[in-house]
Amino acid sequence: MKIHRVKSAGQGQALAAELFAGISDESPDCPVGLATGGTMSGVYSALATNGFRPKFSDAFALDEYQGISPASENSYGNELTRKFTEPLNFQGKIHVPGQGDYAGEQGPEEFEQAITKLGPLSVQLLGIGVNGHIAFNEPGSSFNSKTRVVKLHQETIKSNLVYFDDPASMPTKAVTQGLSTIKQASKLLLLVFGEAKAFALSKAINNPDESTPLAALLDHPGLELITDLNY
Ligand code: F6R
Repeated sequence: MKIHRVKSAGQGQALAAELFAGISDESPDCPVGLATGGTMSGVYSALATNGFRPKFSDAFALDEYQGISPASENSYGNELTRKFTEPLNFQGKIHVPGQGDYAGEQGPEEFEQAITKLGPLSVQLLGIGVNGHIAFNEPGSSFNSKTRVVKLHQETIKSNLVYFDDPASMPTKAVTQGLSTIKQASKLLLLVFGEAKAFALSKAINNPDESTPLAALLDHPGLELITDLNY
């Protein structure tokens, strides 16, 4: 694993934007993998500030709440439209698990097939949850997992509830790429900032097991960690 130590989240997000642009520009025929959440917002803002224009024509989202309306502000697909597609004038397609072509029971399998057909992804952006989740692969997820519907853990529901105006409307399930799906990307850029994530990072690196989904990715030759933490 290559490690980039940075002084702040902002510096790390700027670096991630630079790396993402360089890698994706080098392989314009390959799709990319996009994540959502606070960490990624800064990366997408930095890309927009730099005037980055995607050369790739397909992007795959990591995850989405199960059954959420694509019009909901809480939909990860919707978030990517607002934070990636619109500011970067992206003319291609973002494939979102559980949405559009990938809704319905066969959706996860069809999503996997689309990655296989259009992939490999040149680069996958990744964050990590306070409880160690990667995408919505919660602690205990199989390292061989594929795209599937999962139940969210209580800690994840608790930390994401703040984003929902009506807490009762928060889905308790999601559709997520699996850990082995994520591993198919040529490069993995993992961004981890802030003390709240120190335990998740240090446990995965120093004491890895199935309770630490990141451990599944540690032997990936293209894994690059960008962090402001010592672990
Ligand atoms: C979202 C995703 C999640 C987030 C993680 C960190 O697509 O895959 O695993 O990366 O929950 O979220 P933030 O950056 O909001 O702390």
